[in-house]
Amino acid sequence: EERGGARRRELVRVAWFACLFVCKLAAMASPHPSSANRTSFKDHNIILSLLSLCLVLSLLSTVASAHIFSGVEDTKGVKSDLFPEILRDEAVTRLNELGMVSDADGYLERTFLSPASVRAGNLIRIWMEDAGLITWVDRMGNVHGRAEGMNASAKALLIGSHLDTVIDAGIFDGSLGLISALSALKVLNTNGRLRKLRRPVEVIAFSDEEGVRFQSTFLGSAAIAGILPVSGLQIRDKSGVTVQDVLKENSVDVTEENLFQLKYDPESVWGYVEVHIEQGPVLESVGLPLGVVKGIAGQTRLKVTVRGSQGHAGTVPMSMRQDPMAAAAELIVLLESLCKHPEDFLSYDGHCNAFAVESLVCTVGEISSWPSASNVIPGQVTFTVDIRAMDDMGRKAIIYELSNRMHQICDRRSVSCNIERKHDANAVGCDTGLSSQLKSAAYSAMKRMEGVALDDDVPLLMSGAGHDAMALSHLTKVGMLFVRCRGGISHSPAEHVLDDDVWAAGLAILSFLETHM
Ligand code: GLV
Ligand code: MN
Ligand code: MN
Repeated sequence: EERGGARRRELVRVAWFACLFVCKLAAMASPHPSSANRTSFKDHNIILSLLSLCLVLSLLSTVASAHIFSGVEDTKGVKSDLFPEILRDEAVTRLNELGMVSDADGYLERTFLSPASVRAGNLIRIWMEDAGLITWVDRMGNVHGRAEGMNASAKALLIGSHLDTVIDAGIFDGSLGLISALSALKVLNTNGRLRKLRRPVEVIAFSDEEGVRFQSTFLGSAAIAGILPVSGLQIRDKSGVTVQDVLKENSVDVTEENLFQLKYDPESVWGYVEVHIEQGPVLESVGLPLGVVKGIAGQTRLKVTVRGSQGHAGTVPMSMRQDPMAAAAELIVLLESLCKHPEDFLSYDGHCNAFAVESLVCTVGEISSWPSASNVIPGQVTFTVDIRAMDDMGRKAIIYELSNRMHQICDRRSVSCNIERKHDANAVGCDTGLSSQLKSAAYSAMKRMEGVALDDDVPLLMSGAGHDAMALSHLTKVGMLFVRCRGGISHSPAEHVLDDDVWAAGLAILSFLETHM
């Protein structure tokens, strides 16, 4: 503040001296007033015009200096720029560029270690190096970029998010967290402050958070946190290919023995920070670009397989069918009723509380049948179930009730029904100390940016979406920042973040790094 103010005053002073000097020259050039005639009247006008010009110039220089040094203080009182070229313009260009890296034509899709994911990882690696980081790719396909700072053996801050996407995805989910961290680090590098960080800072682009291909989310971050079981390598995708096969195809030799070497030593890590698009409507409704995450809902993914009797659509009487499709329909409607009105299904004996009921959401997002022909009663139907709640006990009670009732329906319909648990993650609370540091950083970023009125506190939000921070919470303290999202829409190509909100996110991470690292 002081340094900026001094420079501004200095500029104004120089402008005034310049004006006075020009006026003096003009006065010397004009004839003495005693020889007043038509010529001296004209000269007088010239002097007046010069004086006005000087005034305008000095005003302009004041405005320009105020603009150059506008609203740019960090918590240590050192003025700096808002770096819109890096934190907004370049970040937005990179988000768009990364959003074009897809395995599909016409929509965005990048699943675990697909060709597009590898290309996206290479791009991130280039941007990490551009920010002055040392880079490498680990055995689960995570891309790392690290700055050692002044003390390479101090506990490191990890910042991350994911490289993979859902099918027909938006361009911000995952990528925003990576790009905003890299642009903040690039600013520090440009300022020569990257080398002066008090502890190492490492950005990790995780290879799998969405779990689209293998249904088991967090393959990359779980390996770093040391919670990926060796059986994780043998999970198969729909075509029967295992996680280990995919890694081998990419020349990565991961074995049960060396998987555990990926785990970070908790003693070497200070904490984990993630910036993510909110994927919900709260920040938009309160009119603020940033919020702090209080906790992340627990989630379970199931795969339900219903087997019946395959047959001819035209010849098997309705009363003699064992139709897994009709059974699946009833099971899905049961799920919907259970999650809309859990109070009708659960007895309140300590299993479930009102909060769990409020935050409970259940989805069937994928369904397939065999042999999938219009004139064949299917032999088998498979569908996924995704159940989330803030309250782990409540979620578990729902799953218990759901599977009992599903088996009853299948028995009544004389079909078999198999329920496999594909993924389970308990709810995670963000660290209060880290959250309050992120809150100050978000507050300072929003204040530093023009047009953000900060009468209210930085909002505190719960996350219904899963994040790599859930896996990292098994390794270290975690904190998250959410960024406003248009219409609350995510997992859709309509997902959108304003350019200025991308800027706010980068500025908040920059503030956090400047203040705490
Ligand atoms: C990830 O986006 C998830 O919450 O499913
Ligand atoms: Mn995400
Ligand atoms: Mn997602």
